[in-house]
Parts: sequence; structure tokens; C-alpha cells
Amino acid sequence: MANGYDATYAAWQNDPQAFWAEAAQAIHWTKTWDRVLDDDKPPFYRWFPGAETNTCYNAVDRHVEAGRGAQAAIIYDSPVTDTIRTTTYSELQAETARCAGMLRGLGVEKGDRVIIYMPMVTETAIAMLACARIGAVHSVVFGGFAANELATRIDDSAPKVILSASCGIEPGRVVPYKPLLDGAIEMSSHTPNACVILQREMETAELIPGRDHDWEEAMAAAQPADCVPVKATDPLYILYTSGTTGIPKGVVRDNGGHLVALKWSMKNIYDVDPGEVWWSASDVGWVVGHSYIVYAPLFHGATTILYEGKPVGTPDAGVFWRVIQQHKCVALFTAPTAFRAIRREDPDGALLKNYDLSKFRTLFLAGERADPDTIKWAEQQLQKPVIDHWWQTETGWPIAANCMGLGPLPVKYGSPTKAVPGYDVRVVDESCVEVPRGTTGAIVVKMPLPPGCLPTLWQADDRYVESYMAEFPGHYKTADAGYQDEDGYLYIMSRTDDIINVAGHRLSTGGMEEVLSGHADVAECAVVGVADQLKGQVPVGFVALKAGVDRDEATICQELVAKVRAEIGPVAAFKTCTVVARLPKTRSGKILRGTIGSIADGTEWKMPATIDDPVILDEITEALRAIGYAK
Ligand code: COA
Ligand code: AMP
Repeated sequence: MANGYDATYAAWQNDPQAFWAEAAQAIHWTKTWDRVLDDDKPPFYRWFPGAETNTCYNAVDRHVEAGRGAQAAIIYDSPVTDTIRTTTYSELQAETARCAGMLRGLGVEKGDRVIIYMPMVTETAIAMLACARIGAVHSVVFGGFAANELATRIDDSAPKVILSASCGIEPGRVVPYKPLLDGAIEMSSHTPNACVILQREMETAELIPGRDHDWEEAMAAAQPADCVPVKATDPLYILYTSGTTGIPKGVVRDNGGHLVALKWSMKNIYDVDPGEVWWSASDVGWVVGHSYIVYAPLFHGATTILYEGKPVGTPDAGVFWRVIQQHKCVALFTAPTAFRAIRREDPDGALLKNYDLSKFRTLFLAGERADPDTIKWAEQQLQKPVIDHWWQTETGWPIAANCMGLGPLPVKYGSPTKAVPGYDVRVVDESCVEVPRGTTGAIVVKMPLPPGCLPTLWQADDRYVESYMAEFPGHYKTADAGYQDEDGYLYIMSRTDDIINVAGHRLSTGGMEEVLSGHADVAECAVVGVADQLKGQVPVGFVALKAGVDRDEATICQELVAKVRAEIGPVAAFKTCTVVARLPKTRSGKILRGTIGSIADGTEWKMPATIDDPVILDEITEALRAIGYAK
């Protein structure tokens, strides 16, 4: 007999538009759609054209009207500031309306962009919802990026207002945001009309008269603003993500499709009910934070935990268990790296024994490949299902998962299970022909993508087509490679581009190479992702110096490490760099980054047939050994 997953997948396949029209019944619309899908201009598809709605209304106001006003909407748990703050749905409504009014007062109208460069505090979620409330388009920038990255985003999205805070908090250090913000505005050609700064007591920022406003004062002076209807197809947000060059891609999310997909996912994938407490231990600066710290749990009327801390060291490797127990959390979503960090500190789970996790049902992992070892360890410790699932910034919600709400399928270690209803996933060769089961190929999704996925890139339709649609016509290129087994389980093995995943953070090695190349002494360089026991992967840089440079190599490497930190940010985790005489290349001059990576990891590799000079690989192996790789 077919289980719930098979039946639901078949129902979707049978009539995708009827499937999504039914899911859309769970959303409040101020105007219904003319048709479910506009497929007149492939590869540009639009879900629910003609419909109008408001994302903030669906996340906040409708729950207050339905009697959830006194329920906790957001629990801010911050071990780094020793604070726990609960915001009920009623309070969230009031604060969001006021924040929306504050933005209006600063001239923000429907369609205007607002950059949010803020740490993991309740106000960040309020800011996002406030933008949605008045139809403004937010673009959240992760706090671990440097001024340069922020400047790129300011120039691309041209925000009318920037919302920021005086500082973020990393274990053992306060990260002042204001100098980064000021530096970014100075660097960018676009200038925002105003900045609003949330002053935190650990570090207050000096405000620039005429441009900067104090958050508290501006909120106090604001008139609350109501939700305005927006088109289902209007943009809700832009989230920049690493592309194959240093210029990030502005992934656009619409309002209607996003509402429908995320609301559907909470029960059907995550098996969470309204009123329950859900925790996504990520950062609002990443897509996981957008979708599963802020939007999806609130669309669903659940309580979401917003956690400002780390899995270890704040104060110890028992903190995840403390949060789950204290807030009666039913499910946790995080990256495998967090569990590797906990395991490293507390391999026998001694700290876990101090906590009551009886309410806890499921652990979900995503953001990077979940190694079977980590999954098994988590299963043993928690004695609960541990579910790997696969998705991307571009899709905004899972492409493949074990859909717990539809009835779990047997877990196969190393696989995020099967395609989620809505996604027609295929593994293909270069000619877009499906490869036999068990054979590795490029993973693509047959168009159209389901609601919630990117309709395009911000003001870059051509780049959207070129990045995702050109190589496999009629299909979305995930840029992941892997295979499908006989039972249809997917295995996501590697990226086909220059993206690496460092502690669940998506980074472009090409972007780092651009920074290294900018150093006066560097002739050419390569940055390669190598395996790391904690972070999954870390970047390692190889530089060949210009002829005649005779400065100390160690000093040059230190400068390069500092340069990446200053220009991309600490999150790049670029700490290892080495000078080599030459880089291995093909005869056509392409650097053999994949081969360097395999040598570093000690995995099997074949001498590339097109290599120009094989001796260089011996030199690279030596260089890798000297820095602790290629053992
Ligand atoms: N603001 C400023 N700096 C930040 C930052 C932020 N929001 N987030 C990270 N950084 C800094 C860190 O302090 C670190 O700086 P350092 O080089 O001075 O030590 C650097 O960026 C690298 O951060 P990270 O790779 O996260 O390493 P870490 O050692 O601080 O923590 C883990 C390692 C595994 C504990 C951590 O990555 C983690 O908790 N990951 C959980 C998963 C997650 O959040 N994934 C996101 C997508 S789901
Ligand atoms: P991001 O856009 O930051 O969410 O990163 C997306 C990329 O992370 C994917 O393209 C994959 O390469 C990787 N990824 C995310 N989840 C998984 C997973 N469950 N298994 C393997 N890789 C994953």
C-alpha cells in the first residue's frame, strides 16, 4: 500500500496546479488569483498571478484575530547576553505595526528596498515583518560579512533605508556593526536616505546627525501602520547568495508562492502543529533563518525560538538541550556542523543526561552534506528521528526530505530521502539525458519550480537564465551533483561550481580568489575547499608570487588571510594560505582545483589527461603536507 508520501507525490504529479490551489486555501488572500500558474513566458513562471495578500498579516495579525494573541510568537534566547524575552503574537503585531510606521515616516513605500544588517535579536524579525507589512522589499545581510560585501548589496538593491544595530556578539568579543555600516555606505555609490540604529548596551554607536536615527526614539515617535495588500507576485525580499563570481546573486522571493509553500511545509515536512514550539538554530542572515526562524513558523501560528548563541561555548555543549527543555521545543533544525561541534566537546552525551527532552520529537539537518557518522551519533544520543534534508537559498524550502508529516520513509544514511512534492528532480548527463540509477550526474529540477522558489534574480533576468536555465533547457540547474538509488532516494555529493560549504555557510572560492589576486605580490592563485572534521569544508589558498618578489612568504600569507577577513568577513574562515612556485593547470590553462582538493583530502584521484605538467602536482602535494594536509 502506498504511504502518505507516495500518495501525496502522486497527487501533485497528477495535477500540480490543483495541488497548489488546495494548499493555497490555508492562506488569507485579499483577492483571489486569476490562475494558479502563469506559464506564458518560460523560464519565467509566476505563481498565483492576480491574487493579493499580505505576508505580515498571515504571519501575525491573522493569528491575533484567531485568538492566539497571548501565545508566544518569538522566544529570544540569548546566552551571550544572558537574556530570554518572549514576544506574544499581540505584542509582535503592535511592534511590527510601529516599526512599519517608522519606515513609512522615513519615506519607505511599497516596492522600496530596506537593508537589514542586524544581529540575532527580536527586532530583526520585527524589521523583516514590518517591511512585509507595507510592501517594502527587505534584504537581510548576514552580520559576519565585512563592509565590502555590505557595499555590494547596497549598490545592487539601492535601499531607501538601512536598519542596523550598534553591535553583534560573538563568543568572547563584541562585533561593532556601525564602523562596518559607515564603511560600506562610504564605499557604495548608492546612498540610503536614512539609517536606524538599535543601540545595544554592550557597545553603543555614535550616530551621524541628519542620517542616523536611534531605533527606540524612532519607534516611539512612529504611528502604527496597517498591512497593505500586495500582489502575490510582488517581491517580498532579496537575499544575496554566493555565485560563481565575487558579485553575489540577488535571489528574489515573491509573497504568494512563498506563503503557500512555507505554510504547507510546516505540517507536511516538519510535522509541527500550530501552537507548538519550533527551533531553527541558524541565523536570520541565511535562507534557513528567513524561512524557518521567521516566516514559516509564524505563518503556521507556531512559536519560534530566535537563538543568539552557538552550539558550544555559550556556555557549554549542553546549551541546545537546555533550550529544548526550557522552551518545550518539539523539533530542532540546524546544520550538521553544529552537531559535530557538540560531539567534539561531549562525545558521550554526558551533558544531555541533565535535561528532559520528552517533548522533543525530531531533529532536522540541512545546509551541507550530513555525514552518516554525525547522524548516527545524534540518533544514539537523542533516541529520536534525525532527518537530513536538502535545499538551497534559491528554492527557499526543501527540495528533498523525509516528509515527517506525510508519514516517514525509512532513513538511508547519507541521503536526504526523496523529492518533496512539487519538485520533479532528475539526475542527468551533460546532454540533459537521465543517467541510470546509481550513476552520478548533475541534479536538475524540471521546470516549473514549485511556489516559494526564486522567480528570478534581482534586476538580473539574464543572469537568472544564464546561471540556472541555460545549461539544461527546461530544467533548473541545482549546481549539485549526486545520484538516485533504485528506490528513488537522492544522494547529494558535491557542487559542480566553485561554491564550498563552511560550517553550513555558503561561500564562493572564486570570490576569495578575487581578493587574493588583488594583493600586489600575487601573480596567480587558487582557493580550494578541503575536508574539515568540524566545519565540513574550509578554504585553503595557494598563491604563486610575481617574479622578483622576495618578501617573507609567511608575512605575505598573513596579509592574505587578513585581506580576506577584511574584504569578505570572518565568516569566510580563511585561515590557511601557502606560497607555491606554480599552480597545476590543464594545457588550456585551467587551474586543477578539483585535483588539488582530492590530494588535500587524501581521496582517490586520477591524473587528469589534459594536465600540462604533472610534476607540479608533486610540488603541490609537498606544500599541502607542510600545512598538515595530504597525509
Ligand atoms: N557576526 C560576526 N562574526 C561572525 C558571525 C556573525 N554573525 N558569525 C560567525 N562569525 C565569525 C565567527 O566569530 C568566526 O570568527 P573567528 O574567525 O574570529 O573565530 C568566523 O566568523 C567563522 O565562523 P564559523 O565558521 O561559524 O566558526 P565558529 O568557530 O565561530 O563556529 C560552529 C563553528 C560550528 C559552532 C558554528 O559554525 C555553528 O554553530 N554553526 C551552526 C550552523 C549554522 O548556523 N549554519 C548556518 C546555516 S543553516
Ligand atoms: P545554501 O544556499 O546556503 O542553503 O546552500 C545550498 C547548498 O548547500 C546546496 O546546493 C548543497 O550543495 C548544500 N546542501 C544543503 N543541504 C544539503 C544536504 N542536506 N546534503 C548535501 N548538501 C546540502
